Amino acid sequence: MSIIDDPRERVYRPGPAPLRSRLPVLGGTLEYVHSPLATMARRYRDHGPVSELSFLGATWTALIGPDACQIALQNADKAFANGPGWGYLVGPFFDRGLMLLDFTEHHHYRHIMQEAFTRPRLEGYARRLAPLVEKGISDWTPDRAFEIYPALKAHTLDLATEVFMGGAEYARPGEIEQVNQAFVDCVQAANGYVRSTALPFTKWGRAARGRRLLEEFLRRHLPARRANPGDDLFSALCQVADASGGIDDDDIINQMIFLLMAAHDTTTSTVTSMVYELGRDLEWQERCRRQCLELGPSPTLAEVEGLSDLDLVMKETLRLHPPVPVLARRAVKDTEVLGVKIPEGRLVSVMPLLSHHMPEYWTQPEIFDPERFSADRREDKSHRYAWEPFGGGVHKCLGMIFANLESKLVLSALLRHFEWSVPLDYAPPMKNDSLPYPGDGLPVSLRPLAPAHVG
Ligand code: HEM
Repeated sequence: MSIIDDPRERVYRPGPAPLRSRLPVLGGTLEYVHSPLATMARRYRDHGPVSELSFLGATWTALIGPDACQIALQNADKAFANGPGWGYLVGPFFDRGLMLLDFTEHHHYRHIMQEAFTRPRLEGYARRLAPLVEKGISDWTPDRAFEIYPALKAHTLDLATEVFMGGAEYARPGEIEQVNQAFVDCVQAANGYVRSTALPFTKWGRAARGRRLLEEFLRRHLPARRANPGDDLFSALCQVADASGGIDDDDIINQMIFLLMAAHDTTTSTVTSMVYELGRDLEWQERCRRQCLELGPSPTLAEVEGLSDLDLVMKETLRLHPPVPVLARRAVKDTEVLGVKIPEGRLVSVMPLLSHHMPEYWTQPEIFDPERFSADRREDKSHRYAWEPFGGGVHKCLGMIFANLESKLVLSALLRHFEWSVPLDYAPPMKNDSLPYPGDGLPVSLRPLAPAHVG
């Protein structure tokens, strides 16, 4: 039985009927938003790994399966560009962010920004994050239907304010809430149907206002970060930019806004999905908890990296629920993928999500089975691009280690303080109008950890 009609498919449930045939103009968009995985599976079955679709008012070439994704991500003949691809989706709101730069310019900026993610810097971020993670969950009130998604979203935003921006000490009263909202507005612009900033009440109109507010906020804070650098990401970026002489103040701000975007929803989504999977599999929850209870309340980077069971769980969760199911590109010259021609100017959507579910590469792909990543199985080695939640090639996620650190710190704090469960037959209604998130907030039955564990 395939993903298309398997009733056991849990999170990305297939739609009741192909919406595309009924609504030819918006159809491709609605079909995707309704059920990305089933849409990809249907498309792969009916049209193969390279096919045309209409999405958000444009014609795209869809690349599905690891062979096709690999060609675009490795980009050996430099036929695919990120800026004009992602730019179409996220508009001008993440302008000049690293992911939207290409070729020589991208190489230059990436080289500089890597310095903000060296091992000593990451150890510093861990020191700053650990106590804040612990403090953030300390005021959670356990409940039989505790909506974990909004709670985690608020928590990771607070963490970003501290660890990315260096705290709120320079903010005016109420400003942090405005900054958070501005940032959310920018992210939500991605799938706005009206793609113009002229109308203030549309998603794009709100995002344009949000972008201005973020720029103004960061510009005001920049001199203080430069004069008194801390162990936050904003300070690190100012320092590496100044040392290289290669990034001016405008671009420090552009990169900061992009980093906030790249980090926030992806990490929230990952942690939410880990809570969901561990709420269904109590044996794995207990196994992970045992390792976490051996750590103190402020684990170091090395200690977090030593949580081997949590590592397997995170990998398996990212396989089943990758926060970025589709990557955008545009062909900058005529090219071809697996024998199918792609004309210059064509938008291209690289769709790694289906690769994570293909029975050619994974045993029983719909089952949550973290051991498939263990040293003696390593199913992810079945194809170089079978598992690609962080992308691949020169644009591979720069924040991968940071994302691992933050996600595992949050999970480890939850495991040390709470136990939780979700009913086995429950699958959250996923919204896919930006990065995937549970429309019902993902209620879990959250309880304080029994004293037997703590003692
Ligand atoms: C689990 C969480 C995360 C996931 C799944 C994720 C996924 C991705 C993916 C798929 C890409 C490649 C996009 C493309 O090729 O078009 C990417 C790029 C990027 N990510 Fe992440 N990301 C995560 C967290 C983070 C965090 C926490 C940061 C920063 C602290 C970050 C910073 C970046 C940057 C700067 C890029 C652009 C790299 C480049 O173009 O050279 N990400 N991420």
